[in-house]
Amino acid sequence: MTLAVVAAAYGGPDVLTTIDRDPGEPGPGQVLIDVKAIGTNPVDIKMYSGAFGTDPGALPISLGNEVSGVVAAVGADARGITGPLAVGDDVVAFRVSGGYAQQLVASAADVLAKPAALSFEQAAGLLLTGTTAVHLLETTHVIADETVLIHGGGGGVGLLAIQLARLRGATVIATASRRRHDSLRDVGAIPVEYGAGLADRVRTAAPDGVDVALDTVGTDEAIATSLELVADQSRIATIAGFGKTAGTGIKLLGGGPGADPGTAIRDAARAELVRLAGEGKLTVAVDRTFPLAETEAAHRYLLEGHAAGKVILLPTCM
Ligand SMILES: NC(=O)c1ccc[n+]([C@@H]2O[C@H](COP(=O)([O-])OP(=O)(O)OC[C@H]3O[C@@H](n4cnc5c(N)ncnc54)[C@H](OP(=O)(O)O)[C@@H]3O)[C@@H](O)[C@H]2O)c1
Repeated sequence: MTLAVVAAAYGGPDVLTTIDRDPGEPGPGQVLIDVKAIGTNPVDIKMYSGAFGTDPGALPISLGNEVSGVVAAVGADARGITGPLAVGDDVVAFRVSGGYAQQLVASAADVLAKPAALSFEQAAGLLLTGTTAVHLLETTHVIADETVLIHGGGGGVGLLAIQLARLRGATVIATASRRRHDSLRDVGAIPVEYGAGLADRVRTAAPDGVDVALDTVGTDEAIATSLELVADQSRIATIAGFGKTAGTGIKLLGGGPGADPGTAIRDAARAELVRLAGEGKLTVAVDRTFPLAETEAAHRYLLEGHAAGKVILLPTCM
């Protein structure tokens, strides 16, 4: 048996509860993973907050799309993205279902070898945000010598989008509260404070103009500033501005209504992201870790909306 955290009802983080469940044996094309670290994401909270609607028949809701850990058992014909998998291999898995657990059966097609240079905590926080960041850059066709504005540069998606845009040779202006500016500079961005007067501050930082805007916060300010500064609206993309893009050419990305899920782009990006992180060309900033037993506190922290990178759960601390 294994301990797992699920949402027993719809509501706030107090609906989270720990259950004991049988992870099962890995079938053909699957592996059993002893989970070492779990990446949390705002979408985990949206799964039970009612943001995606409420269906009592779906309860309890399993949470967690990304984990890292060690292979504990291998089913027949289980081949990972990066090659064959064996018991004892350190791995990272995305996209999984029910990752908030001590053990998990995953499709080998979603499992990659974890580079030794990447900690379990960093590996668990790389792929949901990283694949989203790749989708943002791909869909807006960012190339070398362009100037990219990233709203929410201090968050999980924002920090990786900055680094990936820099690897493409772009100049990056990124918005964040002042206390995050040094960490944005550390990953190669020019930080600007969000809030009243944002467009003028960006103009000062980018006197030759802005080619692309990537929005990871979804505020009216981020949408309006992007429209004001970027001439070609097809080069503006948002992952959070649901309901705010009607009548514009802004690209809406992700799982919501009218959005482009970009599944093929995101899935194809996984191996490259792990390679870049393993080579030290991408840094995953881990803000805080919590024992899996304290998931409720971790979600309350995420809900404050100012995490400085990834919030990671550790199942061995149950
Ligand atoms: N559609 C998709 O495919 C997809 C995929 C992943 C995530 N998302 C969504 O994208 C959003 C960001 O995800 P995440 O994982 O990056 O979240 P996160 O790590 O929790 O990001 C929080 C960041 O937002 C910044 N922030 C808060 N208010 C801001 C504002 N008004 N202007 C600029 N920055 C602000 C904070 O910076 P300061 O501390 O400086 O305030 C903090 O660094 C969430 O809504 C998430 O659900 C969507």
